[in-house]
Amino acid sequence: MTRKPRILVTRRWPEAVERVLAERFDASFNASDIAMDSAALVQALRSFDAVLPTVSDRLGASLFEDKDIRAKILGNFGVGYNHIDIAAAEARGIVVTNTPGVLTDCTADIAMSLLLTVARRAGEGEREVRSGQWMGWRPTHLIGTKVTGKTLGIIGFGRIGKAMAKRCHFGFDMDVVFYNRSKIDIAEASRLGARQLETVEEVLAAADFVSLHCPGGGGNRHLINAQRLAMMKPEAFLINTARGDVVDEIALVEALETGVIRGAGLDVFEVEPTVPERLRVLDNVVLLPHLGSATEETRTAMGMKVVENVTAFFEGRPPPDRVA
Ligand code: DGY
Repeated sequence: MTRKPRILVTRRWPEAVERVLAERFDASFNASDIAMDSAALVQALRSFDAVLPTVSDRLGASLFEDKDIRAKILGNFGVGYNHIDIAAAEARGIVVTNTPGVLTDCTADIAMSLLLTVARRAGEGEREVRSGQWMGWRPTHLIGTKVTGKTLGIIGFGRIGKAMAKRCHFGFDMDVVFYNRSKIDIAEASRLGARQLETVEEVLAAADFVSLHCPGGGGNRHLINAQRLAMMKPEAFLINTARGDVVDEIALVEALETGVIRGAGLDVFEVEPTVPERLRVLDNVVLLPHLGSATEETRTAMGMKVVENVTAFFEGRPPPDRVA
């Protein structure tokens, strides 16, 4: 590299990664860590050779209509990229990369935490203890649902879906069924104690816990709607660590309010960071602020993946995690 490429990082990243970026590039950081609005993002696309966005940045088609775009690559911090209009970026010749692989275990761990927390009513229990309302042990207190031995239904059997299957099958003796658009090798599935079913509906009907691990956006928007929620068992739970828009949130609130399903564990929401009041007041739902990949190890590894992708691009090599 002769002149260092000008890059903009849209949010604060782990210190170790920011340090490498500052050494390698002419880097600008968002010291305030406040999400950038559309006008600021357009300005960034005009002024920098690379923009390094993340889940909280909305890069819709209209941003790519600007005639003065300078950016050649979007090095996304995150595996999901449904916040970027990939077709519009591609049409402007902008390369887009993501960070697969490094957040698999931590995201599956959060899905597992949600599953256990909602089934065993641990959130309710914690609130009770903290508020000084706990009256002591009694046989009928906060009775939850047993997890061990139940059936897990996975929608989307990619890396994270498989990691969830592994946890549930080997850790909790669960029977695992899944839906995946493409056919998964039977031997691979059975090594994880899992069995592929033909349709989403079959999985919903069979499962005591449904865990979503498919990408957001496109055809997956509102994949779980009122009709499909009604196909779940009334005693079943829905776990979402994928993307908020995979679930019709209003339909889910109604299903939780009226007992169509027993409960839900959610790490993602339709319009983050807004979480509807009707959801927040329910006791049969566990709510987390999009923590799937939030460990020191994983967030650093994600950042280093972006470094590798952007470095490769500016050195004229194919970025390892190119999605567009
Ligand atoms: C991702 O990577 O897409 C997550 O949602 C944020 O870690």
